[in-house]
Amino acid sequence: MSSKSKGGLEDVIVTSSAICNLNEKTNTVEIRGYDLLDLAKYSSFEEVCYLLWYKRLPSAKELTEFTQTLANHRQIPTGMIELIKRLPKTSTMDSLRTWVSALAAYDSEPNNTSTEATLRRITKITAVMPTIAATAYRISQRQEAVQPDPCLSHAQNFLHMILGKEVSTSLSRAFEKSLVLYSEHELNASTFSARVITSTLSDVYSAITAAIGTLKAPLHGGANEEAMKLLLAIESPKNAEKYVRLLLAEKRRVMGFGHRIYKLGDPRTKLMKQISEEIGEETGQLRWHKICEQVEETVGAEKKLFPNLDFYSAPAYYCLGIPTDLYTPIFASSRVCGWSAHILEQFQSNRLIRPRTTYVGPSGLTYVPLCERH
Ligand code: CMC
Repeated sequence: MSSKSKGGLEDVIVTSSAICNLNEKTNTVEIRGYDLLDLAKYSSFEEVCYLLWYKRLPSAKELTEFTQTLANHRQIPTGMIELIKRLPKTSTMDSLRTWVSALAAYDSEPNNTSTEATLRRITKITAVMPTIAATAYRISQRQEAVQPDPCLSHAQNFLHMILGKEVSTSLSRAFEKSLVLYSEHELNASTFSARVITSTLSDVYSAITAAIGTLKAPLHGGANEEAMKLLLAIESPKNAEKYVRLLLAEKRRVMGFGHRIYKLGDPRTKLMKQISEEIGEETGQLRWHKICEQVEETVGAEKKLFPNLDFYSAPAYYCLGIPTDLYTPIFASSRVCGWSAHILEQFQSNRLIRPRTTYVGPSGLTYVPLCERH
């Protein structure tokens, strides 16, 4: 193993898992045996949550009950909105991390690690995270928070709370597909964080808070916000090639490109690209999708790198009217169901995760008392 791959735990198998089968040879992602792309095309977000947590697809009755249960838990705990208003202005992702952590204080038994208690807890957290993200954003903009609507689906309600208006069924369904594509992806950095915390028998809130902190940065979930900043700077498809060549000449990274595992392209991108085009067409803003296509062509030609899921989610969310500051919180609010499945699995067959380092520092030094040091 090279020193570079050691640094990133590249190709290291940390544990076995029955949740996500990510196969770089067939370029497929399966969730509990089902193709993720099929789930995105045909399932609701709620159905995928059920599959992840209960290890099988629900019956129609089970799905209706589960959907209603999630919808019933969307309210932020009483008093928390006042606290959100008092927090100094920060990014929505930092706010989300803070308030998810604070949810523990509203839980009468946060340290109960039984499967039943964990299921109750992850249901609540998954249901309320979109409300926290949308509310924190709107408060930061001095806008009135939009109350969650239990009659809407998880995806419809999320968009409604962000935008403060209804969108067409086709647009909310396109948004829901993106949530499913984001929902789970094996042992990515944030999921690894969640599993490490869980392996110490810590609580679910700590694990999810750590996962949010891991996801927020540009090499992971923060890439979708960075990708949109790039598209806005490029402005027009005709500027894309020159802009990207300059960026690469300066040895800078093009956010939304490359992947630790997929060297031949991220299998989720094809569907996300299609979604981005559909949303661009319906909203009359295809420009952003077209810039993406130009960037994709140039980065492919120059670096042989492919866009990952974060790249085409940027124009899709932009055309939906979603503020850039919410892109990564949306990713987190979707990935929470994957983190939760891993937390359940870790609790169910736990062993402390405690890797080693190769020590490369000095050794055997003679201790010099402070008064004798120069
Ligand atoms: N733009 C330009 N060059 C790149 C990029 C990029 N986006 N990604 C990788 N490279 C180059 C890198 O400079 C290096 O070149 P060289 O060997 O000449 O130094 C080579 O490709 C290998 O890079 P690496 O950093 O060793 O690869 P990695 O497997 O550690 O990195 C990555 C994976 C995702 C961190 C990286 O591709 C990257 O920084 N991408 C941009 C951020 C991004 O889009 N992140 C989202 C990841 S997928 C969805 C998610 O989890 O959120």
